[in-house]
Amino acid sequence: MKVFTTRVIPEEGLLLMQRAGITVTQWTDQRELTLEEMIVKCNENDALFFAGGRKIDRPFMEQCRHLKVISLLSVGYDNVDVKAATELGLQVTNTPGVLSNATADTAFLLMLSVARKAFYQHKRIIKGEWGFSSPTANLGIDIEGKTLGIWGLGNIGTVMAKRCRAAFDMKIIYCNRHRNEAAEKALDATFVSFDELLQQSDVISVHTSLTEETKEKFNKDAFSKMKPSAIFINAARGGIHNETDLLAALQQGQIWGAGLDVTNPEPMKADNPLLNMPTVAVLPHIGSATLETRNAMSRIAAQNVIAAFEGKPVPNPVNHIYSL
Ligand code: DGY
Repeated sequence: MKVFTTRVIPEEGLLLMQRAGITVTQWTDQRELTLEEMIVKCNENDALFFAGGRKIDRPFMEQCRHLKVISLLSVGYDNVDVKAATELGLQVTNTPGVLSNATADTAFLLMLSVARKAFYQHKRIIKGEWGFSSPTANLGIDIEGKTLGIWGLGNIGTVMAKRCRAAFDMKIIYCNRHRNEAAEKALDATFVSFDELLQQSDVISVHTSLTEETKEKFNKDAFSKMKPSAIFINAARGGIHNETDLLAALQQGQIWGAGLDVTNPEPMKADNPLLNMPTVAVLPHIGSATLETRNAMSRIAAQNVIAAFEGKPVPNPVNHIYSL
């Protein structure tokens, strides 16, 4: 059996597949494959081990129907037309669970960085601006005891809430499609409506997936309902916020700051004005980018491939394929 990987993948998954007798071909170029190249590779292999932002849509899948599995090296699968995959009988898998800590840590890092203008202060040193300092210049804000609003209290949101409660005794409110009673008990969290989340939070941290329902939910209207002292954090998917509206909200003082691990679009252009704002911190979608987490993701994605090749139920299905 043969697997094609769209990136050089972390070693654990690679070794696992090789030990299972699978031939792994990795895409080693530092550029995205073209659609045509992807189709050729998929037709030479039996599974696609996929990392990257490209859309996996119906026309693509229609040309790769013999694939046994498309194994995503991510928990998010908003780039995949899952309905089409199911209709075409293509198994899609992902890597849930293992990246909650690393991703929540990224959101936490952004929250503190924005509150203390850390990225901006770092740039000032590089520009030779450390010189004279005034007790009133470039002040940040305290986080201790403030209200954290989580949008999407699932695995990652729960870790972020835990971190914020333990470190800063933050009050936790959250908005989900369904109540999360276990988390309410563990975190003393309060379920609120979306508007209440916007109005009451000092920090809003987004941890939901990107769907038609969540697309650009943080827009002009949403930002206008937030506190002028609020910080907006998005470590989920850039498509959940409207970036033009976010910039305007910051420029007009409707909100205080923003921390983004994901942008809309990605990659963010180097001349984006958000990058020069004192109360903005941007990272290049590194939520899960630790050695341990990426190896765990790679291992899980490999286990999904191996199970599919062995004709066993895959451990982490995104869709359910029924054989007749
Ligand atoms: C995920 O796993 O979904 C991370 O955001 C990496 O894309």
